[in-house]
Parts: sequence; structure tokens; C-alpha cells
Amino acid sequence: MSTPLVQHQTEIQRNLEAWQKKPLLRQIYAEFYNRIVALLDSRLTGRIVEIGSGVGNLKLHLPSAVSTDLFPNPWLDVVCDGYELPFADGSLSHLILFDVFHHLRAPNAFVREARRVLTHEGRLILFEPYISWSSLPVYGLFHHEPVAWRATIEFAEVFPRPRDYYAAQGNATRLFFRRERPDWPSGWSLIHAEAFASFSYLFSGGFSKRTLYPARWLPRLERLDRALSRWPRLFGARCLVGLRPL
Ligand SMILES: C[S@@+](CC[C@H](N)C(=O)[O-])C[C@H]1O[C@@H](n2cnc3c(N)ncnc32)[C@H](O)[C@@H]1O
Repeated sequence: MSTPLVQHQTEIQRNLEAWQKKPLLRQIYAEFYNRIVALLDSRLTGRIVEIGSGVGNLKLHLPSAVSTDLFPNPWLDVVCDGYELPFADGSLSHLILFDVFHHLRAPNAFVREARRVLTHEGRLILFEPYISWSSLPVYGLFHHEPVAWRATIEFAEVFPRPRDYYAAQGNATRLFFRRERPDWPSGWSLIHAEAFASFSYLFSGGFSKRTLYPARWLPRLERLDRALSRWPRLFGARCLVGLRPL
């Protein structure tokens, strides 16, 4: 196996084990997936496709979604690269990316491809880390991927192979909330941009760290998250973004 594939499969294995062992994580993710499902437009025709499905958990909440990833695994429906989707023009109603957008070194090349495969009123839905004053130290110190808050973002419309590993956890916050490039993505309408507090998630340790609170505290922490979500720049940790072609 090549090195990126070995790394990916090691991470997938670790995530699968955490998913089985941590019911708390499954509860927290159920709420995340519900937010995504609430953003779907049921009137649209065409398939729903998830890019970068990883362990494929979205299917538990959205069985009709076609699960895909760059790397093969038995539970996936299609192996494909988000920059080169094997779907016909205008054939998909929704594209969903959960923690994948920040792995796209050339987001403009990706949205161009997304635009090609989506129907006229189709939706591109992104669920991502959100960088706030309180989540920055957590993502910066305890997660292995860079936040890359000041790094240059590549806006080329074409992103040739070979494509290396890339991660920049701050990209969704910078592009859809800070609007560092206000006219981007051109040809799209931003229909939803919501950042919310998620201490219940941060303190759960996610897939790779120890849980810092007993599972019975989850409802209390979720109440706290809802209250603190009024101040996303201070307390936000996750975000949900919806885009539609113009
Ligand atoms: C952080 S994982 C998220 C996995 C899953 N969505 C989840 O939430 O558990 C990022 C995933 O995106 C995939 N990925 C990264 N770049 C991709 C690309 N260009 N096209 C398709 N998938 C990609 C990776 O293989 C990996 O499975």
C-alpha cells in the first residue's frame, strides 16, 4: 500500500474503533447529521452524494446518500476524487462534505466541479470546524491538522495531479464567515452560514482523545452550547454552510 493509503486506513481503523467504543460520540454526531439533513431540499430531484465519507456514518441518518471517498473501503458506494466526480452534468441534488472542505487545497477547483454535477437549484452542504477565540486553542493544540489561519489559500480553477495531503482547519471560517474573499465563490449564493458552540463535542475528545466528561452530562452541555451559540466568534466550534448555484 502507498503511504497516504496506509495513513488513511490507520486513521479509518482508529475512527471505527472510537465510533464503536464511544456512544457519546455517536450521540453528538447524530445532532450534527440532523443539522445537515435539515438543510436538504426534499423538492429537488437527483441523487444525494457525500464526498470524503471516511467511515461512512452519514448513511445511518441519510441512507439514500451515495457514499464516496478518495480511498476504497468495503462500505463505500463509489471511490472518487472530489475534484473529478464520476457523475453526469446536472445529475445531483445535493453534495455533502463533512470535515472534508478543509482538506481541499484548491477549493475553487472543487466548487467548479460541484457546480457541474449539481442540478440548477442543487445544494452544496459543508460541515466544518469553526475557529473562534475558544475553539482556536483546542483545534490548534490538540488536533494534528494545522489551522493555517494566515496561510495563502489556492484559488486556481484547475488543480492538476499529483495532489498531496492538505489540511487547513480554518478555511471555512475564513471564507464563509470572515469573508476574506467577499466575492468567492462567484456564481454561487450562500444560503446558509451558521456557526455554533459545541463544547459537548470539544470535551468529548472526538475520535482521537480522551472524553473529559461523563455521558450523563451531555444534555446539560448541549443546553450550554445552545446558549453560547449566540456568540459564535467567542464560543463557536462547528459550522454548517449551504451554497446554491446562481
Ligand atoms: C477528516 S476525514 C472525514 C471523514 C468523514 N466525512 C467523517 O466525517 O468522519 C476527511 C475525508 O476526506 C477524504 N478526502 C480528502 N480529500 C479528498 C478529495 N479530494 N476527494 C474525495 N475525498 C477526499 C479523505 O480520504 C477522508 O476520508
